[in-house]
Amino acid sequence: MFPLQIAGLRFQPNGRAILDGLDLEISGEGISVVLGPNGTGKTLLLRLLAGLLPADGGSIRWGGAAQPADRLAMVFQQPMLLRLSVFTNVEFALRPQALTAAERRARTAEVLERVGLAHRQRDGARLLSGGERQRLALARAWAVRPRLLLLDEPTASLDPSATEQVERIIREIRTEGAKVLMTTHNLGQATRLADDIIFLADGRVQEHAAATRFFAQPQSPAARAFLQGELPWRIAFER
Ligand SMILES: Nc1ncnc2c1ncn2[C@@H]1O[C@H](COP(=O)(O)OP(=O)(O)O)[C@@H](O)[C@H]1O
Ligand SMILES: [Mg+2]
Repeated sequence: MFPLQIAGLRFQPNGRAILDGLDLEISGEGISVVLGPNGTGKTLLLRLLAGLLPADGGSIRWGGAAQPADRLAMVFQQPMLLRLSVFTNVEFALRPQALTAAERRARTAEVLERVGLAHRQRDGARLLSGGERQRLALARAWAVRPRLLLLDEPTASLDPSATEQVERIIREIRTEGAKVLMTTHNLGQATRLADDIIFLADGRVQEHAAATRFFAQPQSPAARAFLQGELPWRIAFER
């Protein structure tokens, strides 16, 4: 299913180009972090990759094929949890898979243990704190053993301690062999987690580089301005 090759990807609702011929190639290893100003289409890119909406042009190839050969999972910024127990939320996600009920329960128990929610498994998912909800969403995605995990701003509204727990889980998922493609607006998080940075602005990838290189020496003016906290309109203004 890798490399994932995106060529000339367009998304232009009502003629307004949001993704404007985006090219990108990513490998099957490590954590790739998508950065860019608000509203540049980071979430959109993940949704297009997850097949949740159609593009207006361009192509997405998965190791040369039109469809991914292996599983992918996506965790949204505001995870949608069922009004059921923590345990059932994970177990439900495994129903479509060819597993026996005993296997489903065993795998559910295993991932809940790993995200530190085993002791909450009988509680209603709606009773969880923000950090716990996000960990439950990660457990649910992890349980299906995805080859690619798409994470949209996984710690957007979390405090530092909850953020650290989520980052630990993301690293563990990567270590187990899943490719992680995630967005964040937390630059500290990007420096802690990213192997490579994909910098998006004006509907295209402006820069794709190893994280250490990107933060030490951003090559594109847009990325330099972004890292200096410049406002997006200023970038447009100066061009
Ligand atoms: N399904 C959609 N239909 C039309 N416009 C959309 C859709 N999804 C997102 N957009 C628009 O695309 C732009 C980029 O959105 P988004 O991907 O959420 O940005 P980011 O995640 O980088 O902040 C926004 O202007 C948003 O309103
Ligand atoms: Mg977004």
